Amino acid sequence: MRAMVYRGPYKVRVEEKDVPPIEHPNDAIVRVTLGAICGSDLHLYHGMMPDTRVGMTFGHEFIGVVEQVGSSVQNLKVGDRVMVPFNIFCGTCWFCARGLYSNCHNVNPNATAVGGIYGYSHTCGGYDGGQAEYVRVPFADVGPTIIPDWMHDEDAVLLTDAVPTGYFGAQLGDIVEGDVVVVFGAGPVGLVAARSAWLMGAGRVIVVDHLEYRLEKARTFAQAEIYNFAEYDDIVVEMKKTTGHLGADVVIDAVGAEADGNFLQHVTSAKLKLQGGSPVALNWAIDSVRKGGTVSVVGAYGPLFSAVKFGDALNKGLTLRMNQCPVKRQWPRLFEHVRNGYLVPRDLVTHRIPLEEIAEGYHIFSAKLDGCIKPLVVPAAA
Ligand SMILES: NC(=O)c1ccc[n+]([C@@H]2O[C@H](COP(=O)([O-])OP(=O)(O)OC[C@H]3O[C@@H](n4cnc5c(N)ncnc54)[C@H](O)[C@@H]3O)[C@@H](O)[C@H]2O)c1
Ligand SMILES: [Zn+2]
Ligand SMILES: [Zn+2]
Repeated sequence: MRAMVYRGPYKVRVEEKDVPPIEHPNDAIVRVTLGAICGSDLHLYHGMMPDTRVGMTFGHEFIGVVEQVGSSVQNLKVGDRVMVPFNIFCGTCWFCARGLYSNCHNVNPNATAVGGIYGYSHTCGGYDGGQAEYVRVPFADVGPTIIPDWMHDEDAVLLTDAVPTGYFGAQLGDIVEGDVVVVFGAGPVGLVAARSAWLMGAGRVIVVDHLEYRLEKARTFAQAEIYNFAEYDDIVVEMKKTTGHLGADVVIDAVGAEADGNFLQHVTSAKLKLQGGSPVALNWAIDSVRKGGTVSVVGAYGPLFSAVKFGDALNKGLTLRMNQCPVKRQWPRLFEHVRNGYLVPRDLVTHRIPLEEIAEGYHIFSAKLDGCIKPLVVPAAA
């Protein structure tokens, strides 16, 4: 089969690989019909994620057709069109039993802190991902769901990560009616978080980024007020000014460890690798929220880094909530929202890239060229 393969930081290409075999009776093999590149894939692409091995295939957002099932699979049959959550999870451990699917205890022999994720380094289990023609889906009775007839394929693929994660970001904010919600990051995740904040009763929604074209999308897709942090000396002061000097009720970090906006942090993280990332957006969130407010973190953070304003979080009495999104838990409500038109995920799609040209796709998405917000990946045989 053809598959995207990691060759080292900023280097990916498409290679010939064996079609993955069934390894366990509850595996399925899925022929991928549509995939996507996630902002999280950029952390791998930039060499920021520990134990990302040369030869690995990325891709944790994909839909496809069931090609083969193991002997114990009961919920799927060959030919079913399925959407697959980015989390790999067993469905029965202590954590899965409590809906903490992203924290499953049975799927990742390499780490206890994180569960399994398709195509997301050996730190996250070493599973190959869906930027390929075929992918092995473990616990096939647990994760995948048959795509409803009424659902658009481009909506379905975004429901495997970007959309549930943005929605989850808003959920973790515990938004109550009338709240002022600030979202840092206008990527797909932040845009959905902003849109979802309205669905949860927000009174004002503000989105902060430094890419004008994405801020424009925040206005049209999420009806948000927008701030370009590059235009202000101190974006936190602006957030204070616009909230009567109290701060926002809820702040959502949809940026993660590769945040821009602070030169020293950038040099010590991305350039010198003295720390595992830059906590700029997280610190802006801690500073912009009001005392007693909630900071929701869905931006991805990996290894240790320094200078997080934890003392301020304590002294302000903040609630900090965060996790990898338990995708399947979000589906029942999100399916309703998509079906009823409250959320139109495919409005985020800007690029449809043939699998063979995925290296160019990574470059465009990483460098934020050509108005890129969400690139989909289309295998040749799809
Ligand atoms: N928790 C989860 O389950 C989960 C799932 C998916 C993605 N993620 C993470 O969410 C984050 C966003 O994902 P995405 O696909 O939207 O990525 P993206 O790279 O497309 O978007 C990130 C945005 O943040 C902006 N940004 C950079 N520094 C900023 C700052 N200091 N303040 C405000 N904005 C800033 C960038 O310009 C960009 O528009 C990533 O870290 C990704 O890894 C987490
Ligand atoms: Zn992702
Ligand atoms: Zn589990």
